[in-house]
Amino acid sequence: MQIVPPDAKTLSAWAQMRLSLWPREAFDELRREAEDYLSSGKLDGRAHGVFLAIDLGAPIGMIEVGLAGSPEERRAHIEAWFVEPSARRRGVGTMLMAEAERWARGRGCRTLSSDTTPEYPESPAAHAALGFRARPGEGVAVLFDKPL
Ligand SMILES: CC(C)(COP(=O)(O)OP(=O)(O)OC[C@H]1O[C@@H](n2cnc3c(N)ncnc32)[C@H](O)[C@@H]1OP(=O)(O)O)[C@@H](O)C(=O)NCCC(=O)NCCS
Repeated sequence: MQIVPPDAKTLSAWAQMRLSLWPREAFDELRREAEDYLSSGKLDGRAHGVFLAIDLGAPIGMIEVGLAGSPEERRAHIEAWFVEPSARRRGVGTMLMAEAERWARGRGCRTLSSDTTPEYPESPAAHAALGFRARPGEGVAVLFDKPL
């Protein structure tokens, strides 16, 4: 298992995983954002770290982490976290999160935040297992944070 940044070869697989996570979004747009990231290092105009889990040459998971809030907050936010269903509960999500934490620490962040909704039923237990504290967000959203 390798955890690596995306490149031109893995771009389509990354975009496909983004679509699996956000099925109501348009694939072309998700792919275009991913393609722009390869040259800019930015998603949605902000610096991000993106990492893919590769098993036997095939991408099976991804995480996107971006600088968030005001610079004084020194916070990074998990914008996307996905592991292919057939590869879950084997520690892949944990490895991806560890890489996102390294990226955030390397940029001086003190806090890692994340969030979820009931559309992602595995998410609360997975965040809790990795040391995130949960608190209610707006509506049905749940917010998570952990110190780095
Ligand atoms: C959340 C997700 C990325 C976790 O990936 P994963 O590779 O299965 O995670 P890990 O194997 O590293 O699991 C780490 C721990 O989290 C907890 N956990 C993960 N999935 C769980 C589940 N379905 N039920 C209960 N606990 C779970 C367990 O404690 C697990 O450790 P264990 O397997 O030794 O018991 C994956 O379930 C996923 O892609 N879900 C759909 C998208 C999603 O919900 N993304 C979250 C952001 S909204």
